[in-house]
Amino acid sequence: MALWGGRFKTASSDIFKEFNDSLPFDHLLVQQDIQGSIGWSKAIQQAGVLTLEEQQQMEQALLDLSAKVAAGESDILTSGAEDVHSWVEAELTTQLGDIARKLHTGRSRNDQVATDLRLWSREQVDILIDALNSCQQQLLTLAENNQEHILPGYTHLQRAQPIRFAHWCLAYIEMFKRDSSRLTDARKRMNQCPLGSGALAGTTYDIDRYELAQSLGFDGPCVNSLDAVSDRDFVLEILFAASASMMHLSRFAEDLIFFNSGEANFITLGDQVTSGSSLMPQKKNPDALELIRGKCGRVYGALQGLLVTLKGLPMAYNKDLQEDKEGLFETVGQWHSCLVMAGEVINSIEINSARCQKAAREGYANATELADYLVDKGVPFRTAHEISGQVVLYAIKQQEPIESLRLDELKQFSPLIEQDVYPVLELEYLVDKRNILGGTGKQPVSNIIAQYRHNLGTS
Ligand code: ARG
Repeated sequence: MALWGGRFKTASSDIFKEFNDSLPFDHLLVQQDIQGSIGWSKAIQQAGVLTLEEQQQMEQALLDLSAKVAAGESDILTSGAEDVHSWVEAELTTQLGDIARKLHTGRSRNDQVATDLRLWSREQVDILIDALNSCQQQLLTLAENNQEHILPGYTHLQRAQPIRFAHWCLAYIEMFKRDSSRLTDARKRMNQCPLGSGALAGTTYDIDRYELAQSLGFDGPCVNSLDAVSDRDFVLEILFAASASMMHLSRFAEDLIFFNSGEANFITLGDQVTSGSSLMPQKKNPDALELIRGKCGRVYGALQGLLVTLKGLPMAYNKDLQEDKEGLFETVGQWHSCLVMAGEVINSIEINSARCQKAAREGYANATELADYLVDKGVPFRTAHEISGQVVLYAIKQQEPIESLRLDELKQFSPLIEQDVYPVLELEYLVDKRNILGGTGKQPVSNIIAQYRHNLGTS
């Protein structure tokens, strides 16, 4: 039974019903709808709509319904109700008869759904913050266990300067930290209660909206009823936070896919997170990471989709707003599973230390050091850069790294080059010279690790 039959002479067509019903997806809001309804029953009891006894009966029936749903004993999916709100009310009516028909006094599905969705979003934000936190802890452990390993750092995907593998891990921790703080910010803004806004203009009943908001764990009531029923900024904010985080995850995946390639061979991914080929027996493919990279697309799609849906909507509630849910549910689920999967991949990584070192030595990554060495001897940096470039050109011709050139060969380019140049060209030396906050040197990297270990707790 629809909640609005009185004014209609004919029933909905099957095609309309299937098109219009949201229960197939908004059933995910059932616990929040029950929670919101309990809050509302208290509010209208205080406003004199329900007796205390009626409210208590209603609350008990709603709690029983919640337990039944949690135990998987309800028929919610096969009920054929229009939406989750209709289903909860119908179930309550079966239990309580006419008393249940008082619950919707002064309430609209417009303020109800906005409240349900905020409650759901708030819970999911907390779960996502936990998942981001776990991912950071797993990365931190990987960094801690691999502080000695050095690999090439890239710009333009050309070997640029060597870096500690741990430094690379810490870069992603920074990104996941920002993702988490975006959610924390969004949570503050979403934690306002729309209930009591009615359909659009506010309710006529004497509801204490502050108390109602507080009883549902909100920081306070939304203060404009038109905005309260039509605002979906909180959904957009989650979708944007998800998009930014998926972008980080996809970059992370791409780096690891490259590190794991036959060409780089810096790391080996565990069998448990890779798959084989049905045709080529030798293959071990990084599917988990490719899926993380790939899933980014649909998350961006959900953000873009909702932005376009909301654009130009007239005030206040319009059925277009029902389109907010599927993209949100899908996004939150995919983002969460990508974070869990990323953690599983992190735990499976083995570093191929010798190969990393070799690659870091190749590619003339110490050319900047040679220039800096000359700067220390009084040569202006531009000139030093030029000299070092000429040494690289010569070394490439000889097919040797710079540090394998003899002193007399090096001296052809500058008489200032002495025996003391060789330690300067050593890999560890040039990495650890980046001894500044934020640098890849041993000290700043281990300081940041210690700081994170302190802030993030133990894994
Ligand atoms: N299923 C609807 C939604 O998700 C609930 C609100 C319905 N409101 C209405 N005026 N038809 O937006």
